[in-house]
Amino acid sequence: MCGIMGYTGKSQASAVILQGLAKQEYRGYDSAGIALRCDGRIVNAKIVGRVAELARRVRDLPPECECAVSGIGHTRWATHGGVTETNAHPHESSDGMVVLVHNGIIENSRDIRSRLESEGVRFITETDTEASCQLLAKLYRERGGDAHSAMSRLTASLTGAFALVIMFLDRPDEIWCARRGSPLVAANDGGASYCASDPTALLDYTHDLFFLEEGEMALLKPLACKFFNFDGSPREKESVSLNWSNVMTDKGRHEHFMRKEIEEQPDVLRLTIDTHTVVTTVAMGRDFNLPRGIMKKIRRVQFVACGTSHYATLVARDMLESLDRELDTRVEVASEYRYRDVAGGDDTLAIFVSQSGETADTLAAARRARAAGTCCVAITNVRGSTIDREVPHTLLSLSGPEIGVAATKTFTGQISLLALLVMWLLKDRGTLSANDEARLIGGLRSLPTLLQEILSREDEIKALAEKYSSSRGFFFIGRRECVPLTMEGALKMKEIAYLPSEAYAAGEMKHGPIAMLDDKLTVVALVPDTDLREKTLSNVEECRARSAPILLFATEGDLDALDFANDVFFMPRTERELIPFIGVLPLQLFAYHTARCLGRDIDMPRNLAKSVTVE
Ligand code: F6R
Repeated sequence: MCGIMGYTGKSQASAVILQGLAKQEYRGYDSAGIALRCDGRIVNAKIVGRVAELARRVRDLPPECECAVSGIGHTRWATHGGVTETNAHPHESSDGMVVLVHNGIIENSRDIRSRLESEGVRFITETDTEASCQLLAKLYRERGGDAHSAMSRLTASLTGAFALVIMFLDRPDEIWCARRGSPLVAANDGGASYCASDPTALLDYTHDLFFLEEGEMALLKPLACKFFNFDGSPREKESVSLNWSNVMTDKGRHEHFMRKEIEEQPDVLRLTIDTHTVVTTVAMGRDFNLPRGIMKKIRRVQFVACGTSHYATLVARDMLESLDRELDTRVEVASEYRYRDVAGGDDTLAIFVSQSGETADTLAAARRARAAGTCCVAITNVRGSTIDREVPHTLLSLSGPEIGVAATKTFTGQISLLALLVMWLLKDRGTLSANDEARLIGGLRSLPTLLQEILSREDEIKALAEKYSSSRGFFFIGRRECVPLTMEGALKMKEIAYLPSEAYAAGEMKHGPIAMLDDKLTVVALVPDTDLREKTLSNVEECRARSAPILLFATEGDLDALDFANDVFFMPRTERELIPFIGVLPLQLFAYHTARCLGRDIDMPRNLAKSVTVE
């Protein structure tokens, strides 16, 4: 959601900034802009559309802009004001002294705006951001050009969430940043400083990154980055080394990042299992600092997340319940948890899952739980992200950077880590038998090969996608361990193919949804060979009797399944609790190839943002 890139150094700023914005395109945006410092003035270019279009506009700027060595850029995901060039960032103050980009929402922008308008300031955009820009210019003037003091006063005056990146006309080589609520990362490589919303934009230059904390400002100069509290007092800061390689953020031979990331899932599983197990025993890495014995006093476990991460927690709940039915285990969406009167305290363990570590609702839910004295654990894919820094016990999922907006490999990274965490917790509680531990770890170890086998049969799924892409929509149905899969399968279809897709526990169909069925609405039924196979097949029969085309995902060898469906895709057999690990892959591929048939923008689906940093 909005991408920021700032640069001050010796290289061509426009090239660095455009490349940084391109790396953050996946965050989701509708317009883009850049401001470059050229020969003592600031030159702006803005467009509605893609970064490639902005690059063309930059080529048309006056020739001296090619020599600019500092500047800021932005991709905007509209919140306040329509998608127009005027509303695109950067914004410039009326006196031309301040140019600024922003990610977040300034909640008191209306008040600031009307105050400044009554003082004669003329606003030209409909955005909340312009209020912060015009206000900063006024504060800067009033303080005789003291940037420190003006920035402190600005941050104290704003309510809401912001990552702000700023250039002052009369301060060459300087870029100022401030962060509250929205992510911002800075870096220096010895000769240049950078800042961005997302660490992936900086990995071409350095892997040593400074993640700005809540209430922190930064001054970037070519030779160093300096950090301050909002009150202006200096702050010592350690860099964090991110061991992601640039290759990981490259599409390579693939047409889409999503396809590349689907294919990386066997490796994610292998790495997670190798890192957190020894032979047939679970052994969470040394960095995991949840004290041993903690589960003796825990009565309640809550899993809290949004979207795909929420579905990952449903998989974990199923596993936990199947191994220990005494523990009170709940799953909550973060946007509700943060406002409900959920039980908490030191007998409660809350596990927050967020691949980005920046989802506003998940962060707010975690803050609320901590305030209630609940013991909090976070699972995130991004070292140094807000959730990593704020929650005392963090486990890093090992998925590597995910660029496709639709989550795929991070889901697999999450469920594998959650499975191991569940085992660790139950072992600590004394309720995991050595048998179950060895059985599940053995099962996990065999998964990468099974996933590889499914990948080798991608053509089958592609053909199914081609056949069913003319459907009016989809119902995904299944029972128990397959319910999270129905949700994830339907979400992927909605997100990238834009086809109406509903997920239902199969037993719920006849309580209403079945009324929607006809020969244009395809039912995707997940019917692995478990004790619930027959029951689910009865539900499938009910759908077939209403003329719905049936696409069945069954276990290999279950040839009788062919009698119940128009088409069957056979999945390899695995432990019951691990079925979601296998089932998610064909569903991802099915959505991917359907979207491809329909010519959708797969890596950057309309209206979506990769990390949802506003409420
Ligand atoms: C779906 C998807 C979203 C995210 C959700 C939470 O493909 O990516 O539903 O799962 O926005 O994001 P994180 O995990 O970053 O908190």
